[in-house]
Amino acid sequence: MAVNYSNASDNSEKELSLQNINSEDDNIHTTWQGSNEEWWDWYVSLADNSSLPVNKEKLIHFPNIAFKSSLSIEDFKQQLAEPYPLSEQQIEQFKTESYIRLKNVLSPEAVYLLRQEAQYLLNRCRQSNPSQQFFNIEMMWLENEVMREFALSSRLARIAAELLEVSSVRLYHDNVLCKNPGCGRTPWHYDLHHFPIASTNICSHWLPLQAMPWEMGIIEFACGMEVYKIIEQVPCDKSGKTEDFWIARLLQSNNIKINRDPFELGEISFHHGFNVHGAAANRTTQPRMAITKIYFENGDRLINSSKITSGSWRKFIPNTKPSEMISNPYNFILYSV
Ligand SMILES: [Fe+2]
Repeated sequence: MAVNYSNASDNSEKELSLQNINSEDDNIHTTWQGSNEEWWDWYVSLADNSSLPVNKEKLIHFPNIAFKSSLSIEDFKQQLAEPYPLSEQQIEQFKTESYIRLKNVLSPEAVYLLRQEAQYLLNRCRQSNPSQQFFNIEMMWLENEVMREFALSSRLARIAAELLEVSSVRLYHDNVLCKNPGCGRTPWHYDLHHFPIASTNICSHWLPLQAMPWEMGIIEFACGMEVYKIIEQVPCDKSGKTEDFWIARLLQSNNIKINRDPFELGEISFHHGFNVHGAAANRTTQPRMAITKIYFENGDRLINSSKITSGSWRKFIPNTKPSEMISNPYNFILYSV
């Protein structure tokens, strides 16, 4: 029986930031006209928070922690270069469940060093727009030494290549995602729907920059490589919360297991481009900070037409024509067998 994906969600808390040409029709095959920061504000506004609203007057108090690290850049580089052995079972688990969470990938000192730098970079953004709910900084490796070493990490890129079972991976982009206290959920989605890369061999890592409970806004993984097939029938709603509402409903009615476990310090997740995920609201008084990086198989090509959901992707893949192989200096090879 055909489902009527009508507007059953709560759109009352509309804070949508669609502007200019992007707001003129329902077409998702238009190019994003704003900045990447505006894209994230728009994207978070598509999340349906009605089932568990965030009370900004009653946030859970978390103390301010001074994240200081004494790790030298040399020791940081060494840690980021050492292989992290994966078992066959772990690779199989990734193929079956579409994500994996790995503990002790980085030392607490390394995570705190990244936190220090992320904090420094984010402070500059806050000064220019203090009321913004969601901060995003990408391509940090271009201007920051610690972020460059992190982006270049063969330890992490090798994990990505082994999980994807490919011989070589390139960088799409890095970014810090900071969800401010009181910021709502990130809507359910799978990343291949967003990327302008003609490939299914893409994965991302998500590294929280402190030990993180669910209440701070952790990433939530639907378990199963085939789950995306259940939700791909839901039409994209670029000006409301209907798509997120229906995906949540389908996940529930199909009894899809969701992993919402807290993250330990130094734990990092990898998820395949087909993994269905979202992120919880930040119900605490502290900002939720995570670093992500997206890896794709060396040899992949640019797609023929992008979508509004791809955001400002031309920054990440410059000077590349549709269908052309992606090989420019911004998308360098991070690991090769
Ligand atoms: Fe995502």
